[in-house]
Amino acid sequence: MIFLTGAAGFIGANFVHHWLGTQTEPVLVLDALTYAGNLESLASVQGDARYAFAHVDIGDRPAVAALLAAHRPRAILHFAAESHVDRSIHGPGDFIRTNVQGTFELLEATRAYWAALPAGDQAAFRFLHVSTDEVYGSLGTEDPAFTETTPYAPNSPYSASKAASDHLVRAWHHTYGLPVLTTNCSNNYGPYQFPEKLIPLMIHNALAGKPLPVYGDGQNVRDWLYVEDHCRAIARVLDAGALGETYNVGGHNEVKNLDVVHTLCDLLDRLRPRTDGQSYRRQIAFVADRPGHDRRYAIDADKIARELGWTPQETFTTGLARTVQWYLDHAEWVEHVTSGAYRQWVGQQYGAVAAVQA
Ligand code: NAD
Ligand code: TYD
Repeated sequence: MIFLTGAAGFIGANFVHHWLGTQTEPVLVLDALTYAGNLESLASVQGDARYAFAHVDIGDRPAVAALLAAHRPRAILHFAAESHVDRSIHGPGDFIRTNVQGTFELLEATRAYWAALPAGDQAAFRFLHVSTDEVYGSLGTEDPAFTETTPYAPNSPYSASKAASDHLVRAWHHTYGLPVLTTNCSNNYGPYQFPEKLIPLMIHNALAGKPLPVYGDGQNVRDWLYVEDHCRAIARVLDAGALGETYNVGGHNEVKNLDVVHTLCDLLDRLRPRTDGQSYRRQIAFVADRPGHDRRYAIDADKIARELGWTPQETFTTGLARTVQWYLDHAEWVEHVTSGAYRQWVGQQYGAVAAVQA
């Protein structure tokens, strides 16, 4: 079986669905169920005998060690993290605790388990670390896209904590021989994403008649990767990636934030028109910029295409249409996650914008 940390979150939950839909091997999800962890995203696999869940913090080394000893996985895919840049600006402590200290504890539990495996199992074992393109910093308009050899230059507490975790993973390979793989991907979008991130937040606010808060001038560029394409990439790297290597994963979709929001509004105008016949674009509100806001991310995904034959299947047009339709079809899922702690966060982050009229 394989272990998946943080798979009650957005990408991990999608990975569970992708894996159980394409493979026979069982999974054990290890998740602390923070505000971002949501077992409802895994509700449809609850009855699948190949799926199991353990409520555990990756920083709890003895608990993780006990699970390793009991289940003897052949791989660990490490998704668990604090993942939202805005939250890292308001409270970086959790990011250091989970992304840095938590990854360290997980690596140590894994190393002890792996070191005691029989030689054949040791050679076959994999620790796959899921990371981000944000570790490379910010690009100018004309700069070439990030490659696997671009120097690290993280700018936010989030990206600094992910960069630190990447370095730990690398060092555990070079020093101890732990068989690791690292992926650095661009901005994911798709089903089950918590509506604090740009795309689901905009869909949610549009439908709720709330302002669509665009930071700064809206000209920041992100590369957008449909989450299922990302899941296919991770499965491929697990299967055939070279030990100790890193792979950049991108969607070949560089889009300015304002264009993302316009496209979402146009899709919603068609699929769920406002009752007054006006466009959702009327709800766009330019708000204060994020401190230290990275201007542009772009991924050169040539290595994973060349060496492992992975390319994204979804274009931004097709992926975004699928995503909007998913959120329209899953209003109950959205309703359940937009209660409690999330509402408090919205009050803190967007208090000033809440007054803007639609
Ligand atoms: P997410 O915030 O949706 O989910 C994170 C999950 O980790 C949640 O289920 C949460 O409960 C769990 N978790 C948090 N702290 C934990 C702890 N201490 N112990 C155990 N579980 C814990 O994140 P996501 O968007 O699914 O991202 C998954 C991974 O992919 C992260 O490592 C993130 O840095 C990386 N990544 C995400 C994106 C993106 O666009 N979402 C892009 C690049 C890289
Ligand atoms: P986000 O989804 O938070 O991902 P990241 O910061 O990891 O790239 O944000 C994507 C882009 O959208 C980023 O440039 C910030 C911008 N943004 C807004 O303009 N308004 C918002 O309310 C949010 C959440 C993000």
